[in-house]
Amino acid sequence: MAPKDRGFERAAEQLLLDLYIAAPGARLRVEDRRKAAEVGALCARIRGLLPSRGTVAIVDLACGQGYAGIAAAHLVGSRASLVGVERSRERVQRCVKVADELGIEARFEVGEVASVPLPDRPDLVISLHACGDATDDAIQRLISLQARSALVIPCCHARLAGATPECFAKHGVLRRRWDVLRTDARRVLALEAGGYAVTVAQLVAPTVSPDNILFECRRIGPSKRATRARDLLVQAGGFEPPFTGPKPAVLPLDDA
Ligand SMILES: C[S@@+](CC[C@H](N)C(=O)[O-])C[C@H]1O[C@@H](n2cnc3c(N)ncnc32)[C@H](O)[C@@H]1O
Repeated sequence: MAPKDRGFERAAEQLLLDLYIAAPGARLRVEDRRKAAEVGALCARIRGLLPSRGTVAIVDLACGQGYAGIAAAHLVGSRASLVGVERSRERVQRCVKVADELGIEARFEVGEVASVPLPDRPDLVISLHACGDATDDAIQRLISLQARSALVIPCCHARLAGATPECFAKHGVLRRRWDVLRTDARRVLALEAGGYAVTVAQLVAPTVSPDNILFECRRIGPSKRATRARDLLVQAGGFEPPFTGPKPAVLPLDDA
């Protein structure tokens, strides 16, 4: 796991608070503080993943208003080149405005994570709470782009095929946790099968966000681990990466 860079963490938090909070001295909303803490914790990990020289290509998938990608690019400085992908035109306009204000070399595409043209072998792919199918699309995409590293904070979980053990099936809350764990375990296997060494960690405290699992990924290419993960993945859900089978339906958030 990349060592934490507390300087980057604090700088990212401050940047978000400065950029996205309307008036100086305005009271911060709880969600702004939470988002700043998440992005700060994410940015604390990036320096250890990036090359020390040359251009640093960063891709932010399902970037929303651009918090994570813009903060990362700003902290990397003039070497950074950012591409953000987001289906909402309005959010993309916001990203363009903020990146321009900061003088970041950036391009934002209105479109789908699965299909927008992107540069091969980016240095870092970020996917922070990409909702609906977008976390799985982002995983598939970063594998096919052969990203050198990735920070994925998964969101939205699916009810997978296969029997749910009776003790879980009987109780809604347990069943949901079972589905969440299985979905995330399958995602990790997909990343490993796709050629990544993955560290799973807690990004922030659950009180900041319940979706607080981080997959920190470094590309290592074909390996015994990848072969094993592929076998486990097929056993676990019958999926061949990159997800050629039908996607499972995404669970509603309140399905407990
Ligand atoms: C929960 S928000 C997170 C935004 C941002 N990453 C952040 O953490 O602030 C999820 C974003 O993903 C976008 N999105 C969802 N599915 C997408 C897809 N398939 N392609 C592009 N954007 C998508 C939504 O429009 C939304 O802005």
